[in-house]
Amino acid sequence: MKYVPNKIVLVGTGAVGMAYAYALVNQGICEELVLIDLNEAKSRADVLDLNHGEAWAPSPVQVSFGSYADCQDAAMVVICAGAAQKPGETRLDIADINLRIFREIVQRVQASGFDGIYLVATNPVDVLTYATWRFSGLPAEQVIGSGTTLDTARLRYHLGEFFEVSTSNVHALIIGEHGDSELPAWSAASVAGRSISRRIAADPGLRDQLDAIFQRTRDAAYQIIDAKGSTSYGIGMSLARITRAILKNEKSTLPVSTLLRGEYGHEDVCIGVPTILSRGGARHVVELDLDETEQAAFDASVATLRGFRERVDA
Ligand code: LAC
Repeated sequence: MKYVPNKIVLVGTGAVGMAYAYALVNQGICEELVLIDLNEAKSRADVLDLNHGEAWAPSPVQVSFGSYADCQDAAMVVICAGAAQKPGETRLDIADINLRIFREIVQRVQASGFDGIYLVATNPVDVLTYATWRFSGLPAEQVIGSGTTLDTARLRYHLGEFFEVSTSNVHALIIGEHGDSELPAWSAASVAGRSISRRIAADPGLRDQLDAIFQRTRDAAYQIIDAKGSTSYGIGMSLARITRAILKNEKSTLPVSTLLRGEYGHEDVCIGVPTILSRGGARHVVELDLDETEQAAFDASVATLRGFRERVDA
């Protein structure tokens, strides 16, 4: 019986791609990892560097440099390739150049006969997730973006610090665009079993502190990019978390970017919403009971992203 390993093909071995690869190997999430990048010499060195750590990894991961032909039997293709946001740029500012790059990448992946799951990380991730769905022709369940998974992790970190509890006891989500129009779903949030709404009712001054925490969450990337040129570890670990949920068939809910088909009153747009993930990909979108303010902010985020749809068709 031919054993089909959990094989991942990573396209783009820059800071984000390699942080993801490093997380995959250290968490033993897959059995095979193939790197593809224009800079072959650097990627082959990355392969050696990762393989040299295998002795201390929880389980063996066969890392190699490959080609788009390796996508044919891959469980997932993860795309981190493209132009990165520069200091002073928004994520949406790099949409056009990365749409051009993605059109070629997805065409080459599909030429291999790939029928697995895409995970998109490159920004603007919601626009490029939608583009990957359109360019690939695969069912929407099989095309996922990192969405607001990293933003949610950032929010949980800041709330954990503020309330002095473990992030595992913080249930809060950022939804919407992975970008300036994202929003916190406070009405669905709880910390250590107590809803945020009840905490605000008991301490009205808390609202301002939570707003400050959200702003730090939303603007985190700008601060890091200004200081070190790009973010990498947080997104790399977020991509690994999404990958684990898929490959282990967890049926976990994560706020990935996925195609809306009527949920939250919208369709034909990819955006960060809580989604149940399994081996088949985006299994089901969870519709939170947003309050009026949150729904209005979500609608505005959808409108921001919808403004880029015709660029996908260009
Ligand atoms: C960030 C990048 C991944 O938010 O958009 O760090």
